[in-house]
Amino acid sequence: MTLNNDFVDELKMRINIVDVIGRDVDLKKAGSGYKGLCPFHNEKTPSFSVNEKDQYFHCFGCHAKGDVITYVMKKQGLTFMEAVEKLADEYGIKMPERTGRREDFSRFYNINKMAARYFFHELTARPNMGLKYLRDRQVKDSTIAKFGLGYSSSSYEGLYEHLKSQGVSDEDMLRLGLVKQGKRGPYDKYRSRVMFPIFDTTGRVIGFGGRKINNDDRGPKYLNSSESEIFLKKNNLFGLNITKSDISRADQVLIVEGYMDMISLWQNGVTNVVASLGTALTENQVRLVTRFTKNVILSYDSDEAGIRAALRGIEVFDGSGANVRILQVTGGKDPDEYVKKYGGKAFQKLVQDALPAAEFRFKAMVRGRDLTDERQLLSYIRDIIPFMRKMDPLEQEIYIKKLHRDYGIGEMALQSQLRLPEDAGSPKYDRRREHINVIQKEPDDRKLRLELSLASLMMSNRRYINRAREDGITFETALGSRVVAETEKLAETWGDGRVITLDDICSRLDPDEESRVRKLIRPVGPEEEEYYLQCRAEYQLDKLDEKRAEYQHRIVDLEMGGSDEDKEEIEALARAVVEIDGEKNRIRGSLNA
Ligand code: UTP
Ligand code: MN
Repeated sequence: MTLNNDFVDELKMRINIVDVIGRDVDLKKAGSGYKGLCPFHNEKTPSFSVNEKDQYFHCFGCHAKGDVITYVMKKQGLTFMEAVEKLADEYGIKMPERTGRREDFSRFYNINKMAARYFFHELTARPNMGLKYLRDRQVKDSTIAKFGLGYSSSSYEGLYEHLKSQGVSDEDMLRLGLVKQGKRGPYDKYRSRVMFPIFDTTGRVIGFGGRKINNDDRGPKYLNSSESEIFLKKNNLFGLNITKSDISRADQVLIVEGYMDMISLWQNGVTNVVASLGTALTENQVRLVTRFTKNVILSYDSDEAGIRAALRGIEVFDGSGANVRILQVTGGKDPDEYVKKYGGKAFQKLVQDALPAAEFRFKAMVRGRDLTDERQLLSYIRDIIPFMRKMDPLEQEIYIKKLHRDYGIGEMALQSQLRLPEDAGSPKYDRRREHINVIQKEPDDRKLRLELSLASLMMSNRRYINRAREDGITFETALGSRVVAETEKLAETWGDGRVITLDDICSRLDPDEESRVRKLIRPVGPEEEEYYLQCRAEYQLDKLDEKRAEYQHRIVDLEMGGSDEDKEEIEALARAVVEIDGEKNRIRGSLNA
């Protein structure tokens, strides 16, 4: 069903996000919004904010953000529709009548079930290549039964004739991808393959994967159902229907890549396992599995492709609140081979030793770098800092020690780097200043906006020309200083008698300068003095941040040098940084007072 947008808008209008989130999070009023501990990642200091005015949430720590519907989807692992329905229900808002009859898919599940039974019968009724193949791969009969594995013979019409005799239409078979349309009518899509039925969590057969029995046969190794209304790879995980309760009980899930890995582990007693369906993990799969546990272990090949898949997997889990670790199988090619060779116990040992996502990421980032080379080491550190920021302080401590031990990097330098605002030094640098609303968005224009704000103050009240001068405010952007210079010039020529308007200034600028100014300048409210004080604070905080960043980089450079003579300077710089932080707090405090 597609929902009409008006209803979603109405729903969002009638529900207050603060209300909804407030049920899960202890929200405290802060400035114009609310703050609290982020429900999507572990933290001790609140970086989760809820904007009541614009009805959205945002976490500065894990970058989760969205509206009330996104929140419910994320928090409770629901689809968009489910979240809308839940909210509507909780707040007694009537859902619009469903327009257009929703198609009834139960027919399709039934046909798939018939097909699965057929394949199972083919596999188990008499000796055949499929059964031999599975036995060769040490799959037990009880496992075959549990997973409902099957066999498609070399026949082109076995399944087709069977389903036809059960009254299934060609059209439905085609739509489910069980048969293909040939010149002389439909024929079986799966031939000479071992069949893996894929179930959803409610136990319905949604599709199939068919593995070729003879590696030399033509066609892909695994032939999967094509995507359809009832088979969406991105929404499902192989084996979850069987293992979901074990996953909940173990409070841990192991995600592997292959059908056979999943089955083989399960058969060897590692039962809290699922397989991704041969694609990169999707957000929906993450949502699905985190309903059962937040402790996730990704097990991928240890080759380059596997490492990349693991890194991507970590990213997809980012913000899900899951604790992700990476297991890399050694001494065997994949989990299937490993567990067959060394057994379930040995595999459990690998599970225990799986690397935390951060550590894995750090290790992966070393690839292709020679860390004995100072510059490469420095660039490595700069790359991992953003990820270290996401850790809790205890973890940070551990990794700082590790980096110190492994590469001789100063602990203090790392500490201070971590305390730098996020993205410092990058062009998108956007300082978080929740309680100062003068400057908004477009970080690249931040400085110019601030300067234009001061300029518009000067235009409306000449007093502020002197104030800014006395307070040592300088204008550094080309356009900002241009506008201020014009304002000062007019103020001087006209004296106090005449109001300076934006038009007066703009008539002295080039057309493109004018359009930028008109776009970025904001009118001064009635509270001129308060506006000025905010601007001044903003300016001072910017200056302090610049200085702070400069000191921090200097500290890192000195520590990298590792010379004893630099110790004193490093300590002086570190003290200066602390002083700057104090100063910043003082400025912020004076604003809030
Ligand atoms: P692998 O190539 O690692 O195979 O693909 P595997 O699972 O180890 O299979 P065996 O042990 O050789 O039988 C991993 C997964 O990727 C998907 C399947 O889901 C497979 O289990 N895949 C792979 C396909 O969908 N199609 C393919 O052609 C290959
Ligand atoms: Mn394999």
